[in-house]
Amino acid sequence: MELDTLEELSRKGFIDEKIDPTLDLFDEIEKLKKEKNAIILAHYYQDPDIQDIADYIGDSLGLSQEAAKTEADIIVFAGVHFMAETAKILSPGKKVLLPDIKAGCSLADSCPPHLFKIFKEKYPDHLVITYVNCTAELKAMSDIVCTSTNAVQIVESLPKDQKIIFGPDKNLGAWVSKKTGRDLVLWNGACMVHEIFSREKITKLKERHPFAKFIAHPECEDAVLQMADYIGSTTGLLKYTTNSDAKEFIVATESGIIHQMEKANPRKTFIPAPPNNNCACNDCPYMKRNTLEKLYLCLKNESPEVTVPAHIIIKARKPIERMLEISAQFGL
Ligand code: 13P
Ligand code: SF4
Repeated sequence: MELDTLEELSRKGFIDEKIDPTLDLFDEIEKLKKEKNAIILAHYYQDPDIQDIADYIGDSLGLSQEAAKTEADIIVFAGVHFMAETAKILSPGKKVLLPDIKAGCSLADSCPPHLFKIFKEKYPDHLVITYVNCTAELKAMSDIVCTSTNAVQIVESLPKDQKIIFGPDKNLGAWVSKKTGRDLVLWNGACMVHEIFSREKITKLKERHPFAKFIAHPECEDAVLQMADYIGSTTGLLKYTTNSDAKEFIVATESGIIHQMEKANPRKTFIPAPPNNNCACNDCPYMKRNTLEKLYLCLKNESPEVTVPAHIIIKARKPIERMLEISAQFGL
């Protein structure tokens, strides 16, 4: 058996590589980006430092659109594993890096592909729409992929009598079903971050801030969504706070989005909606695994890299491309 060198172990993420504390990581990352023709794509749930150094910050749809059209040789995906996989499927010739390879997703984990296969077989005349928050393998079993920005339009683009399975998020699925008036067969999956908002604590917060608008992501449970003045994807929520005349907002989604809300609206106040535990706000433990230090190391070492088997790329690409086509038709 060959022994790994220290450098190899560090590349694989088994040991922490030390960073010279005198380095200005923002400068170093900029230098590496130019040198390697790399682009940094970041989701709104990332740490503010990562959002500030990113070339593009967006929601799941925007990030996929950007990954599909980039001319860069390397995509550093500051997000979670399924997002990096989607980028790889859309740009298979490029190297896709994820600062922390363990940045997974509880929602994607709630739908193991082998169980979904059995579930799907029970509904042979149904079309399969999967939320982008799932594994590449699950996408390969789907007819169309969607995000929270386009899920309603994607369902509405199908004939009224078309039977549909929607997975893996039951909360998003129930919301889409309500909005479109269509029956959807739902997979019983959920996001741990959006499921734990406390209706009681939000009610108290609303009483203390009677003029605040309460806004929520559709991954939240119906009981929380029913209280909302506006429901939308992260981009939808951000736009709503900018266009609204309100001065205060209670925000029921991962707290990272508040960084962009505050940047766009410095005179407005944003209050993270409280979860039903002792934390004041709600962070995604997967999204927050990425740090500026890990981002620097991954760009320097070109590792950890996210790869997807060729046969999965071929099958998973079609439903993602279908999503991008339908989104373009709706101007999304
Ligand atoms: P959007 O980026 O589509 O709003 O989804 C949020 C999310 O949960 C990503 O993990
Ligand atoms: Fe997954 Fe939820 Fe985290 Fe998004 S917020 S990455 S859906 S666990």
